[in-house]
Amino acid sequence: MSEIKEPLRILHFSDIHVGLQIRHMSWKKWFSKRAIGAINLLRGRAKYFDEVEEKIAALIRFKEANNIDLVIHTGDYTALGLESELKLAKQLVSPLMTPPQRYVTVPGNHDIYAHEASSHYRFSEQFCSVLQNDLPEYCRGGHWPLIRLVGDDVAVIAVNSSRPNPWPWRSNGSIPQEQLDALKEILEDSHIKNRYVFVITHYAPRLKNGLPDSKLHGLINADAFLETCKGIANGAILCGHVHQTYQVALEGLSCDLYCAGSATMEGHEGFWVYEVKNNHLKAKAVFWDAKNSSYRY
Ligand SMILES: [Fe+2]
Ligand SMILES: [Fe+2]
Repeated sequence: MSEIKEPLRILHFSDIHVGLQIRHMSWKKWFSKRAIGAINLLRGRAKYFDEVEEKIAALIRFKEANNIDLVIHTGDYTALGLESELKLAKQLVSPLMTPPQRYVTVPGNHDIYAHEASSHYRFSEQFCSVLQNDLPEYCRGGHWPLIRLVGDDVAVIAVNSSRPNPWPWRSNGSIPQEQLDALKEILEDSHIKNRYVFVITHYAPRLKNGLPDSKLHGLINADAFLETCKGIANGAILCGHVHQTYQVALEGLSCDLYCAGSATMEGHEGFWVYEVKNNHLKAKAVFWDAKNSSYRY
């Protein structure tokens, strides 16, 4: 008799944008001239994230009520990547990080926004407990790619596409070639080959309509990334950055792309729950029920 297994349940959320009191801050205190435009731009957007703490609390309740085995966050925890914002974001999501082996994440462009020299270090410092790598021999810079083997059937491969990019009119990203080369090798590794594989990164290689994002907002080397992802035998690509929850088939690939959108942006709140069983994925979209201050399928 074949073994009957429970599906593995994965919650994938993104772009929570914990922004402190960005709308009430004095920019003169802490920024150079070129950041002023960015701050003004972000101040305008910040009002859509006013209820972020309440929504993250609801997300924690959702996780507890729905037997979630693994949590994935695809970046943009903050508005400006300030240490104080990263600390607050970490504090808010920390109930989702237990055990740390069951939480996988990448930084978003906003998490390394403002301080070029030490920005990656600052993100890693706050999130180090969940940056453990099960196959560190593939690391090609910092923590990336980061691989997590989950049970016997699932693997998550996190590649970092975010970089310091403080100009207000440009928020694009790129996956360094060394990480793409490593990803190609990882997908052929015997530890990975028979598992259902999630390749996660912040930037969306395709929009909802199947087309690439714009040059100034998107993943610059999206085509090279998708070419490498042709090595995914059984799996899915997960991303954030675009604040809309969507799924799209990818031309020439046997896997789909799932963008989590933003779990907290007013009017756009959403995320995904995936169930993986016998190498098959069932995806369920989750949305915000403002009336009941809770998330529901
Ligand atoms: Fe975002
Ligand atoms: Fe982003």
